Amino acid sequence: MASYASASFLLLLLLQLWSCSEALPGGHPVDPTCPPECSSVVAMSSNHGKPPSCQPQAPHIPVAVFPYDVDPVQFALNLEYNEAEFFLHGAYGQGLDQIAPGMAMGGPPPVGARKANLDEKTLPVIKEFALQEVGHIRAIKRTVGGIPRPRIDLSADNFARVMDQAFGYRLNPPFDPYANSLNFLLACYVIPYLGINGYVGTNPMIDGYKTKELVAGLLGVEAGQDAVFRALLFERRGEAVPPYNITVAEFTDRVSALRNRLGRCGVKDEGLTVPRELGAEGAICTNVLSADRDSLSYARTPAQLLGILYLTGDERKPGGFYPEGANGKIARSFLGKPLGANESPTN
Ligand SMILES: [Fe+2]
Repeated sequence: MASYASASFLLLLLLQLWSCSEALPGGHPVDPTCPPECSSVVAMSSNHGKPPSCQPQAPHIPVAVFPYDVDPVQFALNLEYNEAEFFLHGAYGQGLDQIAPGMAMGGPPPVGARKANLDEKTLPVIKEFALQEVGHIRAIKRTVGGIPRPRIDLSADNFARVMDQAFGYRLNPPFDPYANSLNFLLACYVIPYLGINGYVGTNPMIDGYKTKELVAGLLGVEAGQDAVFRALLFERRGEAVPPYNITVAEFTDRVSALRNRLGRCGVKDEGLTVPRELGAEGAICTNVLSADRDSLSYARTPAQLLGILYLTGDERKPGGFYPEGANGKIARSFLGKPLGANESPTN
């Protein structure tokens, strides 16, 4: 009996060690600095026979995904692809097509993305967030189905245009997001925050319990990522961004102001320092997190988001990060709308 028990224990231990050293599927880079032994958290999670109290509560409405849930959540893939490609290239020098082949569903590769010159403090953060984005794309596709990756312009030129537009004049030399960690963090300030706005805006539009679970999970991690970027930038808010005589705080303020202009719906975006009336309870000027009067995250619609991401302030005029327009029914429906007088599709 004793030998049977010890053999079972040995088998369990071997299984556990095997599961901890298993390579990730789909060509994911595996961190060689990870310790070979399991942490106590992993060991706990491999316990079998979980009690019924570990199961999620039964939903009030037992419909996993409503048909009208699909388009707004698929729309989010446009941003998730953008984040995935920017973080993956920035951290690993490779994109989705190398790290997770097939995940982009045949969409064209991004333009101009490349490995960033990241320091030891920033690199592990971006590596983790990059791989998280792969999970986000997979989870969305599993729940509501996918759309192909659109053409995404992640070139230094495009980020330079964003910053020039934010400041209202040409920065000299042009802003390069890949030059160093501070520039990369400032570039990270530009896109992921919009994911938060999008998911907060999507939430009232969906009803399926699986869709809601997905959006809540995505929102949680997107908000966490943005909070990390903002906290890292907040530590350096008074520093000038070399070689410009412009502080980190002013960069964030200008980018947020640009997004508010392009979003055309008032203040839904705030930099790292704000006038006191915009701070928490109208009583503080520091602003690690961007939030409304009740300290709740701001919501945006797909049209507002597209106006910002296109850098045109118009969901019908592609440009900026999506030179050929975003994908999915919602984004394509805007492109199908008649344009106003004196406008052409190439404007
Ligand atoms: Fe994401």
